Amino acid sequence: MADTLTITDNRTGKQFELPITDGTIRAVDLRQIKTAADDPGLMTYDPAFMNTACCRSRITFIDGDKGILEYRGYPIEQLAERSTYLETAYLVLFGELPTAAQLDTWQRDIIVHTMLHENIKKLMEGFQYDAHPMAVFLSMVGAFSSFYPDAKQIFDEQSRRKQIHRLIAKVPTIAAYAYRHSIGRPYNQPDNDLSFTGNFLNMLFRMTELKYTVNPVLERALDVLFILHVDHEQNCSTSAMRNIGSSHVDPYSAMAGAAAALYGPLHGGANEAVLRMLNEIGHVNNVPGFIKRVKAGEGRLMGFGHRIYKSYDPRAKIIKRTADQVFEVTGRNPLLDIAIELERIALQDDYFVTRKLYPNVDFYSGLIYQAMGFPVTMFPVLFAIPRTAGWIAQWEEMLLDPEQKIARPRQIYIGPCKRDYVALDKRK
Ligand code: SDX
Repeated sequence: MADTLTITDNRTGKQFELPITDGTIRAVDLRQIKTAADDPGLMTYDPAFMNTACCRSRITFIDGDKGILEYRGYPIEQLAERSTYLETAYLVLFGELPTAAQLDTWQRDIIVHTMLHENIKKLMEGFQYDAHPMAVFLSMVGAFSSFYPDAKQIFDEQSRRKQIHRLIAKVPTIAAYAYRHSIGRPYNQPDNDLSFTGNFLNMLFRMTELKYTVNPVLERALDVLFILHVDHEQNCSTSAMRNIGSSHVDPYSAMAGAAAALYGPLHGGANEAVLRMLNEIGHVNNVPGFIKRVKAGEGRLMGFGHRIYKSYDPRAKIIKRTADQVFEVTGRNPLLDIAIELERIALQDDYFVTRKLYPNVDFYSGLIYQAMGFPVTMFPVLFAIPRTAGWIAQWEEMLLDPEQKIARPRQIYIGPCKRDYVALDKRK
């Protein structure tokens, strides 16, 4: 049997043989299927790209039915167990696990870029104290494009490497400063003696002590959470990064758009929405009533469901284990009981089972963040920090892919037919 698709156009009786490669047909191969010479030919119609591959990628592999997630071929379970966020970022960005020397250089390259330009801090002062930290985050990332105009040299590898160092290093500082601004406390300078996540905790929570004492359990838990959030193939914010980057704008401007997409409650804003939902439910006894309302179409079970995973999100399993370790240090988050009861009921209820709705990465992560002292508004920012590595890796892969060009989808026009202009005094 040949790897081809035979199509018969019953409008004309003509037959077409389309090649099948990697389980796909090329959409442009459909343009030859016409009913007349001036017919532009067939297109595919795929709102929200439910069944459309936009690229060929070597970065992340997901099998939604089997609940498999691999970065550059390495299972997420092994990376969460044995790697660190910075090492995983290196793997996702450059394709291989670093040698000891490469990791040492990589860590030093990051450390020297953790500080923010003093004018970035002044920009941040312009926000209200209760500005959502994601609004601050995406504004500051966009502002970077004016501080680092060399980033426009997107086809210069050294320039791209420098922007990668700056972004990986600076996003935790932006996040910490946005948090400190929201609580009216002075910014803490980065402490380059600490690990990536240790320094992040230092910038967030150090008070008057000269040297912040990092809790190793929280430091490691944050590192694992960051590993889990690095990349996830063509999710909404990553495809925004690729789309915007395809116009050849600098990576900071593209990432501001990606962060804006992540901000949405259906995407990276879901971890914040989960905590609001758990607080709204308030008590385990209210869970059956809440589930009933969801099944009646009155709202969604936030943190459940996924476009690709039609089984348990492998990241949610790891997060659930990490939660136990954190709660030993911080004390158990009482909302956990509501979350566990929600999961127990949902996993046996036909409404969720038939729709293959399982906990996703956002269902338990917020419980850990809250127990660690983060306000719910910081949760999407905690997602954006590690996803920065994935966004940049996908952006660079798009830029260097000879098949890619500026993204410009087509449409089906359903508006009014041609009509003449009507003078103002003639309009009804
Ligand atoms: C992330 O893409 C990624 O990889 C994203 C991400 C990443 O790492 O980048 O994994 C991170 O964004 C995780 C998802 C976080 N979002 C949420 O938890 C928000 C709640 N979940 C949903 O809104 C929803 O499940 C989506 C957005 C995640 C996926 O939506 P789809 O694939 O478009 O599915 P759908 O909206 O078409 O729903 C199919 C059916 C519908 O019912 P019917 O119309 O067929 O009757 O399932 C229902 C939906 O109403 N449904 C839900 C539900 N999710 C889907 N019903 C109740 N609660 C939910 N959470």
